[in-house]
Amino acid sequence: MKFFADTAEIADIAELAATGLLDGVTTNPSLIAKSGRDFMEVTREICALVDGPVSAEVVALDHPTMMKEADILRKIADNVCIKVPLTIDGLKTCKALTGEGTMVNVTLCFSANQALLAAKAGATFVSPFVGRHDDNGFDGMELIRDIRLIYDNYSFATEILVASIRHPVHVLESARIGADVATMPPAVIRSLVKHVLTDKGIEGFLADWAKTGQTILK
Ligand code: G3P
Repeated sequence: MKFFADTAEIADIAELAATGLLDGVTTNPSLIAKSGRDFMEVTREICALVDGPVSAEVVALDHPTMMKEADILRKIADNVCIKVPLTIDGLKTCKALTGEGTMVNVTLCFSANQALLAAKAGATFVSPFVGRHDDNGFDGMELIRDIRLIYDNYSFATEILVASIRHPVHVLESARIGADVATMPPAVIRSLVKHVLTDKGIEGFLADWAKTGQTILK
């Protein structure tokens, strides 16, 4: 499963990219607003930091204007992936852009039927929002299971990019189901490495090592 960082914070992206575990980045208008940065400028910086896809979202609601915005965004770098909302105009834009060889992430997916439409429109990625689904009394991971089943039934190449991940159990479940990508806030990515028994184990080994009086580096 690929790991994307769901953020527009350059410091976090640089730190995560240095681990070699980062496969891409997703942004959205809310994350850009939170960063306080200029959209074009910050997207350019992110694209230079990671080799993988960097999602940049259009804000127009109609197909012709979405195409104009996408045309500006895709010129930023070769790894820009245009993010469009799951609407008829978004799907039309998805079909046109992927037909021209541009990566597209169809976002704000909340049903398996919507995901089916995104795949039929040739989406590179579909982004089902599991956290927001849970918040509204639905089972976000059940949605991922349904999409996996449908995509496998028809051998759709669209990658399932699990979004709105809030905690490590969402990541674990995504991997169990066979989702292609998990996009996570940096704090969630960092939390995956933590285990109290790992910390305790290191402490014990180091205490015993000290008793030997030995060093590895001479
Ligand atoms: O990238 C979009 C998505 O991950 C948003 O997450 O936590 O605002 O529901 P959240």
